[in-house]
Amino acid sequence: MSTILVTGGAGYIGSHTVVELVKAGYDPIIFDNFSNAKPAVLPRIKQICGRSVPFYAGDIRVREQMERPFKENKIDGVIHFAGLKAVGESVKKPLEYYDNNVHGSTVLLEVMRDYGCHNFIFSSSSTVYGEPDKVPLTEDSPIKRANSPYGQTKIDIEYMAEELQKAVPEFSVTLLRYFNPVGAHESGLIGEDPRGIPNNLMPYLTQVAVGRLECLTIFGKDYPTPDGTCIRDYIHVVDLATGHVAALKHCLDKPGVHIYNLGTGTGYSVIDMVKAFSKAIGHELPHKFGPRREGDVVCCYADPSKAKNELGWVATHTLEDMTRDAYNWQKNNPNGYDD
Ligand code: NAD
Ligand code: UD1
Repeated sequence: MSTILVTGGAGYIGSHTVVELVKAGYDPIIFDNFSNAKPAVLPRIKQICGRSVPFYAGDIRVREQMERPFKENKIDGVIHFAGLKAVGESVKKPLEYYDNNVHGSTVLLEVMRDYGCHNFIFSSSSTVYGEPDKVPLTEDSPIKRANSPYGQTKIDIEYMAEELQKAVPEFSVTLLRYFNPVGAHESGLIGEDPRGIPNNLMPYLTQVAVGRLECLTIFGKDYPTPDGTCIRDYIHVVDLATGHVAALKHCLDKPGVHIYNLGTGTGYSVIDMVKAFSKAIGHELPHKFGPRREGDVVCCYADPSKAKNELGWVATHTLEDMTRDAYNWQKNNPNGYDD
């Protein structure tokens, strides 16, 4: 079976994808510098998979470190999750974001080219579409200049990989544009463990639910949506992980550029999410309204039919599954991997 290097494999989406790769019979290798992950995730992955997964500690920006797994293994493909992802932080530290995400990806792609590894799957984001002109978003929807350095790094890496594919036509470049990943593995052993106070909705909800935070502030109540709050396409992280496996099966050794939206196709408002979460915990989750958050898009959800038609992949988890699993993870691990 194919050996797949997973950069950022100790992180939230990476760890879930490693589990699904093992389940599907692939041999993943994790590469991570733990800048936003904890070593405690590795024994948890082992517990779920029933075997350990090889691990390299290293930084994608450091060529000698990036080369090690290629020198020591025959790598058939790379799923590239490693990167910094906090939108607000990227506004304050743009150079760190370009260095880590864009420069890091340059080093990785150089090493891949030099070692003859031509299968590249990249974690892109629906953020590349900016404020949509119309929903649902298809892969042909226009790419807009991003409203944060983080978003711009995703656009830049997409373009860089596409240009490389033109120059080295053996490359198979797959760009997966994620909508809003939430939830956790049903075992409750791995999940999202953000540092500090979460910026994203779901980890904020789970931390209020376990009493680590007091009350959710809903950002804005006068958006032009049915209930006045913003709409997103929340997708269970295990569905996202199986989306990577489906993309790998379809795109491995198929030269070209392959682009897929990974979403459910259904939009939920912030109020829908609060209601679903309240149901999962059996009482109303403390919440209040606050001002709009700068940079928020009003309504964003995917048309996932290309992934369905070409990859045979659809998201199967419901909103109830997402809230139940997110809560289960947080309840079992109130302080994340520090427990
Ligand atoms: P995460 O922070 O949990 O995972 C990223 C991992 O990469 C971490 O384990 C971190 O330690 C590692 N890493 C960062 N810089 C590195 C470097 N220079 N060298 C080696 N390892 C490094 O984030 P995630 O939510 O799992 O996201 C994974 C990818 O998906 C990211 O590229 C992110 O931008 C993208 N993405 C995430 C979302 C989301 O909502 N979570 C949405 C769209 C796209
Ligand atoms: C955010 C990023 C986006 C990134 C995505 C990754 C911004 C402006 N956008 O998107 O670039 O790709 O994360 O998943 O940061 N909300 C509240 N209260 C909270 C937290 C969130 O009401 O405490 C609302 C937000 O206003 C939004 C919705 O919940 O309407 C979802 O927010 P979030 O989880 O941060 O995701 P995005 O805004 O889609």
